[in-house]
Amino acid sequence: MDNKCQVIELHKVKGEKGNIVIAEGNLEIPFDIKRIFYIYEVSRDTMRGAHANRNSEFVLICVKGSVKVKIKYAKEEEIYTLDVEDKGLYIPKMVWKEMYDFSEDAILLCISSKEYDPQEYIREYDKFLQEVSL
Ligand code: TYD
Repeated sequence: MDNKCQVIELHKVKGEKGNIVIAEGNLEIPFDIKRIFYIYEVSRDTMRGAHANRNSEFVLICVKGSVKVKIKYAKEEEIYTLDVEDKGLYIPKMVWKEMYDFSEDAILLCISSKEYDPQEYIREYDKFLQEVSL
């Protein structure tokens, strides 16, 4: 993957008994999966994220409801709306991300290429701008 975000199509199988979406490491998810977590019950006026990761890549999947994701690179910004269960947003390392406008029922599944390490999080935007321009 290059160092830009990308919307990824997941493998969806619809059936009479219901539907299933599959996201396999090194297949639909473009890395070895080391960690998953999910974010839910976030009020509409709350922003989460607001950090960059020096080493971790992510795929975010809004498995229920909707959420917006603002991405900031060194010189560009993008906004994605995640509101379908069969697409994921790939986020490379060293981009600033903000998740906001969560619907009441939103469940945001986050898949990461690394175990949790607070040291690799950059939580000050100025510091991110400094490091990303090095
Ligand atoms: P944080 O990274 O600030 O969440 P978000 O990016 O969604 O706003 O994490 C919130 C809290 O959860 C913080 O105390 C750290 C903890 N946490 C872990 O312990 N392990 C993890 O894998 C994650 C993502 C968070």
